[in-house]
Amino acid sequence: MEVDDVTVRFGALTALSGVSLRAEPGTVHAVIGPNGAGKSTLFNVISGVYRASAGSVRLGGTTLTGRRPHRITALGVGRAFQNMAASPSESVEENIMLGRHLLTRAGFVGSGLKLPWAVREQRLHRARVVEIAQFVGLGHLLDRPLGILSYGDRKRVEVARALATEPRVLLLDEPVAGMNAAETLRMSEIVLSVRESLGITVLLVEHDMSMIMSVADRISVLDFGRLIADGTPAQIQNDPAVIAAYLGTGTETGAAPAPAPATAPSP
Ligand SMILES: Nc1ncnc2c1ncn2[C@@H]1O[C@H](COP(=O)(O)OP(=O)(O)OP(=O)(O)O)[C@@H](O)[C@H]1O
Ligand SMILES: [Mg+2]
Repeated sequence: MEVDDVTVRFGALTALSGVSLRAEPGTVHAVIGPNGAGKSTLFNVISGVYRASAGSVRLGGTTLTGRRPHRITALGVGRAFQNMAASPSESVEENIMLGRHLLTRAGFVGSGLKLPWAVREQRLHRARVVEIAQFVGLGHLLDRPLGILSYGDRKRVEVARALATEPRVLLLDEPVAGMNAAETLRMSEIVLSVRESLGITVLLVEHDMSMIMSVADRISVLDFGRLIADGTPAQIQNDPAVIAAYLGTGTETGAAPAPAPATAPSP
């Protein structure tokens, strides 16, 4: 996926300013930065929720910018929506099934009419939903109402629903926010197995630095809508501009003396 020189303005506010990045196939590419840096805005542009004022996003040569969100999903960008139409009284299976909606030729009209081809298609979708649920460790909870699940389990349903759209690129915006250590570890393992077993590229926004450092192949850093660094976790951890951005000492490289990295090597 290539994000090329993307700018997003909301009136006088420039939320993204000429941001470019390139997420290689089959990698976990993290996007980090302080609050308000433009991370979610970037995801909203990629998924077609926001329109870029300038610049483009391409996936494998196909331009995504200018297309509607459901077309972008169909072209292979899956997104875990924080609060997307999750119905607490519906089962885990039904909630994951929402992700299949787009791929369901019959929609719910055909299956309601019990047309033979629609019934067959529905059965295939259900089988795939079961597989995906097992993949994220929810196989034993398929028939439970979403509402009784723990917070960590519900977040995994969101990921499963995004996977149910059969994405080539999976966008995860703060997947471990509010999770305890055990749930965070579990989500990290899922992110890694999405890359390893499914070969899906993961674009990951997260504030949990230890999680990021343990799963990311590459990291792009935003600050006030600008890309201030791009590199491997080791490079990013020791980048003075990144450290300055997080400590709020200024955004111009060299504007302030860089404090010692948090992870300074022992003497
Ligand atoms: N729809 C919108 N209308 C106006 N301003 C917006 C809109 N969406 C985002 N912004 C602004 O754009 C800037 C970037 O916001 P964004 O949500 O992308 O930040 P973020 O990096 O995701 O922050 P956080 O880490 O807190 O989630 C902020 O100043 C925000 O207020
Ligand atoms: Mg955000």
